Amino acid sequence: MKLLVIGSGGREHAMVWRLQSSPTVKHIYVAPGNGGTAQMQGVTNIDIQNPSDLRDFAQLQNIDLTIVGPEAPLAQGVVDLFKAAGLRIFGPSQAAAQLESSKDFAKRFMQRHNIPTAAYQTFTDAQAAHDYIDLQGVPIVVKADGLAAGKGVVVAMSLDEAHAAVQAMLGDEKLGQAGSRVVIESCLVGEEASFIVICDGKNIVPLATSQDHKRLLDGDKGPNTGGMGAYSPAPVVSPLLHDRIMKEIIEPTITGMAADDIPFQGFLYAGVMIGDGPDATRDIGVLEFNCRLGDPETQPIMMRLKSDLLDLFMHATNGSLNHVEVLWHEQPAIGIVLASAGYPEKAVTGDIINHIPAPTDDCVVFHAGTTFDDTNTHTAGGRVLCVTALGPDLAKAQARAYETVAKIQFEGAQFRKDIGWRALSSTKTP
Ligand code: AMP
Ligand code: GLY
Repeated sequence: MKLLVIGSGGREHAMVWRLQSSPTVKHIYVAPGNGGTAQMQGVTNIDIQNPSDLRDFAQLQNIDLTIVGPEAPLAQGVVDLFKAAGLRIFGPSQAAAQLESSKDFAKRFMQRHNIPTAAYQTFTDAQAAHDYIDLQGVPIVVKADGLAAGKGVVVAMSLDEAHAAVQAMLGDEKLGQAGSRVVIESCLVGEEASFIVICDGKNIVPLATSQDHKRLLDGDKGPNTGGMGAYSPAPVVSPLLHDRIMKEIIEPTITGMAADDIPFQGFLYAGVMIGDGPDATRDIGVLEFNCRLGDPETQPIMMRLKSDLLDLFMHATNGSLNHVEVLWHEQPAIGIVLASAGYPEKAVTGDIINHIPAPTDDCVVFHAGTTFDDTNTHTAGGRVLCVTALGPDLAKAQARAYETVAKIQFEGAQFRKDIGWRALSSTKTP
């Protein structure tokens, strides 16, 4: 089979790496791909981004299946375009992708279907938003309605911060159209987990659980980023909580979308806040929906996936996920992100990366913001690499990953030294 994977991140490199081991895969095109996919056998990067050009390419090359990695092409309707041309593609339609591309859509949907989430109101008028903040007090969360590449959420601890966020979005239009409507919601507290499932519109198969570290600095300090590292499984998601998240969040979401006549086919990622207390009664609430896999959560998840990934996509696009059982390696996996100097504000790019070790059974370096010029790999984005390792336990996986991180060199590399700390402290035996 000939496949097309859309995207250029670590998530896409990890999916391509996993798909390569499917016996029926003959060739994989990646649009646009990165320096990692550029160096893989049987993989070709193609420099196409526009959805209609991608459709034309898939038609011309007789691509058997296209997989969409990031949210932007989904929100642009790439799936609808491919389907209208009779092409097989995995991912939600433009309408279903609104679960991620419009926070207001997602909140209205959750309210309508009784899915637990923070109380909220939506505003287009700045004065009304300021008044609401004064009425509610802090902490409070201000979110741009549209896609804002990770810059659209402000968890405000002071009134000044909350008002400044409204001013930036509704007043100064700093986020353009994405910030022309804002959702203001109450602040949830607890521990976050990433709960990702694959759906065919009706049937649901949960993937292994995971958690990521969004803050730039050790101890979960500093600015928010796209994610500085992740691990799977997430120990906080006990079997009982797993059950509750499926019943109280995921199942009502998938049946609700189908009932609203917008069936959801693709990866559904619920960012879930888990409050304190016993598992049977602690609060769980949706912080965000994404209509794609997480990055960097995908990298450890793909390391743990034993089943054939292509088979999963074929069942998802055939509507037969009820016939699938997914197998996982028991061992945990962890991914450490190496980012460029200046990330997340303004990443410095163009530096040569030295000493990236070749993949082994227990450690793979997935690329994100990199390019390859036939001799050298260069930095080309904020998050550059994700060193991902599998181990008999999380501490050993972590040690294996950091041993590899220590070998890799590029100017100004930043990485956290404590990825996995929360899971390690919760699983430590006295
Ligand atoms: P989002 O873009 O909605 O995923 O939000 C990004 C991050 O902001 C989440 O992963 C949380 O860490 C934080 N966040 C979002 N909404 C809330 C909330 N209601 N309460 C507390 N933290 C939040
Ligand atoms: N790591 C968070 C995300 O992919 O949205």
